[in-house]
Amino acid sequence: MLQTLGGNPRNFKKLDLHSLPSPCFVIDKKALKHNLEILQKVKHETNTKVLMALKAFSTFSLAPLISNYLDGCCSSGLFEAKLAKKYFTGEISTFSPAYKKEEFHEIATISDHVIFNSLNQFNLFCDISKKLKNKVGIRVNPLYSEVNDLKYSPANLRSRLGIHTNDLKNINTDKLDGIHFHSLCEQKFDPLKNTWDEIKDIIIPLSKNLNWLNLGGGHHITRQDYETDKLIDFLKDISYKTGCQIYLEPGEAVVLDSGVLIGEIIDCFKPNNPLSPYMAITDISATCHIPDVLEAPYRPALLNEPNIGYDVIIGGPSCLAGDVIGQYKFETLPKVGERIAFLDQAHYTMVKTNFFNGVKLPSIAIWDSETNDIEIIKTFSYDDFENRLS
Ligand SMILES: Cc1ncc(COP(=O)(O)O)c(C=O)c1O
Repeated sequence: MLQTLGGNPRNFKKLDLHSLPSPCFVIDKKALKHNLEILQKVKHETNTKVLMALKAFSTFSLAPLISNYLDGCCSSGLFEAKLAKKYFTGEISTFSPAYKKEEFHEIATISDHVIFNSLNQFNLFCDISKKLKNKVGIRVNPLYSEVNDLKYSPANLRSRLGIHTNDLKNINTDKLDGIHFHSLCEQKFDPLKNTWDEIKDIIIPLSKNLNWLNLGGGHHITRQDYETDKLIDFLKDISYKTGCQIYLEPGEAVVLDSGVLIGEIIDCFKPNNPLSPYMAITDISATCHIPDVLEAPYRPALLNEPNIGYDVIIGGPSCLAGDVIGQYKFETLPKVGERIAFLDQAHYTMVKTNFFNGVKLPSIAIWDSETNDIEIIKTFSYDDFENRLS
């Protein structure tokens, strides 16, 4: 049985699902502000800088709001850095597993921090970065992770991300401004502390010559049961012990539980076999719209799902046999035209959609659950599909 994720409906029970096109991603500004306020409290109490990880959420229409609270963006390459520069304010910190020569100059011109993944890349590009006044960093693999799924665990022996701590002695520390490590995925406080305990004896002595320390993303800070007080004490402590400016770069935590994906039932039927459950086809595709459902994999929580009722397998309109979102309970059988909504669909969704099989992309809307104002900020058409092909 797959784990169900995204169980907190926040204010989405109040949203009239028929007031929007289908399919449609809807972001609740109020929920987003709630998360931003938590992050702001951490910032203010600890003097930590918090960057928005664009890989998780790049909805630039909300950049002015996000920029009001956070200190900038973390990008993973040229396109995200350009998006950060164009729409967000604040600092831009770029880490890429490898920079291409022909892109590096532009990346370094846009970015404030440039973080390298290997000694090769550091040696190749560091002087260009320095000339462009970048603060230069290296990513370190702490070789400690409490993430069980290797796909989401960047801190193990087979990871291609980051140099090992015993390679730090081979770096010209005169040219190094900061150290970055990222080892968490949807985690609470203790794994961060445990990771730090593994590497602190190496990092603290080095930190005297450093300017900043970036603790990556994966901190589930805005989750209801996250121990924010422990994080605050920890951040104050390492800031004191290292003398460095501390950075966090959460993605998911910024928009956690602040978006849904609305869809419509297109058909519902039951094969003539006692063993077969009901099938519902929707205009939401797992493979095109919410690929993490298949990649992670997980079962997204459905708004207002009852505990008892008919078992219905919900799947998408593509021809992929595995384009299945999950099995859900329905009190009455879903009717054609009925609206449904999957919870917690803001992060790693819009940034990952694709046009496989010509399936239409969901529109994007911003809703304010406080005022009930809705703005549809993006719709996609046939031309968008055609423009990606040749
Ligand atoms: C280097 C780095 N920073 C930040 C993030 C953001 O992580 P999350 O969205 O889990 O907070 C990631 C995610 O993979 C990452 O690889």
